[in-house]
Amino acid sequence: MENKLKEPFMPPIDRVDGKLKVTGAAKYSAEYNIPQMAYGVMVGSSIAKGIILSMDTKAAENAPGVLGVITPFNIEKPAGYNIETSGNISATKKGFNVFDDKLIRFSGQPIAIVMADSYERALHAATLIKVNYKKDSFQTNLEKAIPVVKPLEGNAFKDYTRGDVNAWKTAPVKIEAEYNIPIEVHNPMELHAITVHWETPDKVLVYEKTQSLMDTQEKIMELFGLKKENVHIITKFIGGAFGSAFNVWPHAVAALIGAKQINKPLKVVLSRDQMFMNVGYRPQSIQKISIGAQPDGKITGINHEAISMTASYQEFTEGIVNVSRMLYDIPNVFTRYKVYPMDLSLPTWMRGPGETTGAYALECAIDELAHALKMDPLKLRLLNYSDTDLEKQRPYSSKYLKEAFEIGSEKIGWNDRHPEPRSMPEGDWLAGYGMGSGVFIGWRGGAQVGARFTADGKLLLQSAVTDMGPGTATAMTKLAAETFGISPDKIVFEMGDSSLPPGIMQGGSGTTSSLGTTVNNATLSLKKKLFELVKNKAVFHTETIHDVKFEDVVFENGQMMLSSDHTRKMSYSDILESAGLDNIEFIEETKGFNNVDYSTYAYAAHFVKVLVHPATGVIKMEKIVSAVDGGTIVNDKTARSQIIGGVVGGIGMALMEEGVVDNRYGRWVNNNFADYHVPVNADVPHIEALFVNKPDPILNPMGSKGIGEVAMVGFAAAVANAVFHATGKRIRALPITPDKII
Ligand code: MOS
Repeated sequence: MENKLKEPFMPPIDRVDGKLKVTGAAKYSAEYNIPQMAYGVMVGSSIAKGIILSMDTKAAENAPGVLGVITPFNIEKPAGYNIETSGNISATKKGFNVFDDKLIRFSGQPIAIVMADSYERALHAATLIKVNYKKDSFQTNLEKAIPVVKPLEGNAFKDYTRGDVNAWKTAPVKIEAEYNIPIEVHNPMELHAITVHWETPDKVLVYEKTQSLMDTQEKIMELFGLKKENVHIITKFIGGAFGSAFNVWPHAVAALIGAKQINKPLKVVLSRDQMFMNVGYRPQSIQKISIGAQPDGKITGINHEAISMTASYQEFTEGIVNVSRMLYDIPNVFTRYKVYPMDLSLPTWMRGPGETTGAYALECAIDELAHALKMDPLKLRLLNYSDTDLEKQRPYSSKYLKEAFEIGSEKIGWNDRHPEPRSMPEGDWLAGYGMGSGVFIGWRGGAQVGARFTADGKLLLQSAVTDMGPGTATAMTKLAAETFGISPDKIVFEMGDSSLPPGIMQGGSGTTSSLGTTVNNATLSLKKKLFELVKNKAVFHTETIHDVKFEDVVFENGQMMLSSDHTRKMSYSDILESAGLDNIEFIEETKGFNNVDYSTYAYAAHFVKVLVHPATGVIKMEKIVSAVDGGTIVNDKTARSQIIGGVVGGIGMALMEEGVVDNRYGRWVNNNFADYHVPVNADVPHIEALFVNKPDPILNPMGSKGIGEVAMVGFAAAVANAVFHATGKRIRALPITPDKII
């Protein structure tokens, strides 16, 4: 591909929006103030399932400052509510429109929005609503649901078979184990928030926390029957999302309906406790893995069966068992995935959706097998390394997991590990080393980028994309600087606005791959346009070159010059001036890439050292090395932050995070940050993030593959395996809390 990144790469750059973020100047969706602003507070159901018989909203409506209360009893339904979804669509696919009916599907389901002239007044009035329910029996306990509830059916739940499903059973060495992961929540620092301003009855301006401007715009167009140009979404900054901000959640729809009804700008911010049940979560899972191997360590067969959950009203699926089909070179594979509808809110994608869950089980099972074989777990992984994708029957476009194993194991000192569990005491503590690997698909979607290069030497790039934290504008700025040959401080990457050329969602580890390709192509187009303007100038013609070709010139330091003679050059500004132009402006569009001949995956090799205190069960993360094959790393500094962030999420998953629902009431117990534990600085040691940094030759012109999710995939297994190595105790239910150790 043309316009490839050249070595030596430009050094990494700082976050272009770093100063705005740390000084508080960056504006988040709850921070826009519009004259006449009203504030909305959501009221949630106090029962898990049933029907609302009546609601007494009089006291709330009469409370000081209240501008309106919307419930299922008085809602003016938007046009989109009445569109019948085709045919006999099953109940579990329908979804649920806020205030559309009086059914209660989960505890905490929004049943009213109270709007007032101040947040405090809305909050107070919300407490005055009285609800009369008819309760139904419900099921929020996955274990109890399995024997009595019918799992979902459809293509996503077809068994996968390769070779002999019973191969593992007849193998001389085998293990069978069950692994449990509780509900986990994203709960980013920024609360989900939306500010709505209906400028006319048919035109709305929305500041919304979203990972996808385009999808949010489309959803709002559908709901209210609006034209595209009349739905303007702005998301300049996001304070973390991890997958929670793809959907237009019920509170956002309520805000849109409410603002319209009271005819005032309206702001709705979820409270922290509401975040646990209104913006998705990683569903609970129960996974059974059985593996059989020859005494020399060659794995002959694997069965991986996963059970998970979704809401009663909408299907959510993720590729939990997919990792077992392709991470290792195993001839005989069986996978099964079952999802049970529960009386809980809808789960959604959460960092490494599917893979993070599946790799935890698979990578613990591999460690268990290594122990049964009395073989080093790294050696076992290398022995069963897959060089082609056996599931899709095609080669990898690149796979440098071996290299990641090498640099990671070297850095943590894996070779000094004594293989026996409980054999490495350090004072009162037991030390343990563990590893786990991760995999996540690399892909590339289509995107548009607007480009305007002006005679003052500045380049403006624009795309409707948002950034939940990875540093998208920073990576794109560096990429443009590198490929166009100008300094990054001459470049502005504008984003976070649906009126810009349509970009791509932020997520699936695909933003840099997708948008980067378009930026890359935009700078290539720009160079070609500059070239066309001055190719006939005498300065580019020598005794040997009469008819200068694009291939004969290079673009560096703001100059176009002959490759063969760098003194024959023109600055980009002079080129515009000589052509009598103030600027060059165009929109670059790239289509998505349908990767049919190759499988592209990013890989991670996580190595950890833990210290376990046997008397108290306290676990300390002592050392962490995560080595990643993400192809070419576009901007090392922000990429490193991605790995560190994923690893911190992995520490939470391994040791702390557990969503607890009281199944007697179907209600969350620990929906607050005092009781739902996440890692704080003191829980996190220095994290060494290493990159193989070799280009993928197929996926995109940068050679990058994506790293956001793989950073977390397989990490929790590394911790669980290290705890086993330290203590000899195999804890198969996350999180690994002290009580499980003692
Ligand atoms: Mo991610 S789960 O694509 O935000």
